[in-house]
Amino acid sequence: MVYKELENASASEILTWAFDKFGDKIALASSFGLEDVALIDMMVKINKGPRVFTLDTGRLNQETYDVMDAVRDKYGINIEVFCPDTEALEAMVREKGLNFFYDSIENRKQCCGVRKIKPLKRALGELDAWITGLRRQQAVTRSAVKSVEFDESNQLVKINPLVEWSEEQVRDYVKENNVPYNKLHDQGFPSIGCEPCTRAVKAGEDVRAGRWWWETPEQKECGLHVKKGA
Ligand code: ADX
Ligand code: SF4
Repeated sequence: MVYKELENASASEILTWAFDKFGDKIALASSFGLEDVALIDMMVKINKGPRVFTLDTGRLNQETYDVMDAVRDKYGINIEVFCPDTEALEAMVREKGLNFFYDSIENRKQCCGVRKIKPLKRALGELDAWITGLRRQQAVTRSAVKSVEFDESNQLVKINPLVEWSEEQVRDYVKENNVPYNKLHDQGFPSIGCEPCTRAVKAGEDVRAGRWWWETPEQKECGLHVKKGA
């Protein structure tokens, strides 16, 4: 599927097109990182009641919950919160413990599977398209992401309006538009996931160096954005 007319479109133009095409069957997946709060601000300026969902893994930082509420209050939008399946979660921690994800990539993927991927599938099941804050510069695994693509793994359209944006552009947008943001960004955390799997980065380190820091860059995807067959 090629959307030629969108090749040089701005993020707002892409969002406007997407709302026209998908109506209430499109939603933003938000972890409330800088990209996502910038997108929420842009979305509300185009469409008063945009849909936003989040995957609450149960292991997020308090600062992440704080920004969720700040966004909810400022924009008057509901956040659709998806939680892990209780039975699967209880069985996993009973068998493996609470911090087993540090022990191997297989264990880490099992935890991400129960806490993020299964809830994501439930969220996407209601939609024809989803919006994300992916940027090409974020990681080697993201260098080929397109602004509008067909998500083969999940069988729906995936819209990434910020693919070409730099980290600085996102930061400037958030500042200029007075968008609520996660306070951990001021403490050396450019990319924020679950609390036990995210640490601050040092000067000069890659933006995702603090995510699953014990793994190599090629392995650092939890499965939310993996291409079919990868
Ligand atoms: S991750 O796959 O490594 O966790 P990252 O934190 O870089 O992803 O975020 C990339 C995009 O994935 C975000 O802009 C957002 O669209 C989506 N995303 C990541 N985590 C979540 C979450 N917990 N809930 C909803 N969407 C998320
Ligand atoms: Fe589990 Fe860590 Fe993945 Fe969060 S990021 S779901 S705590 S392995």
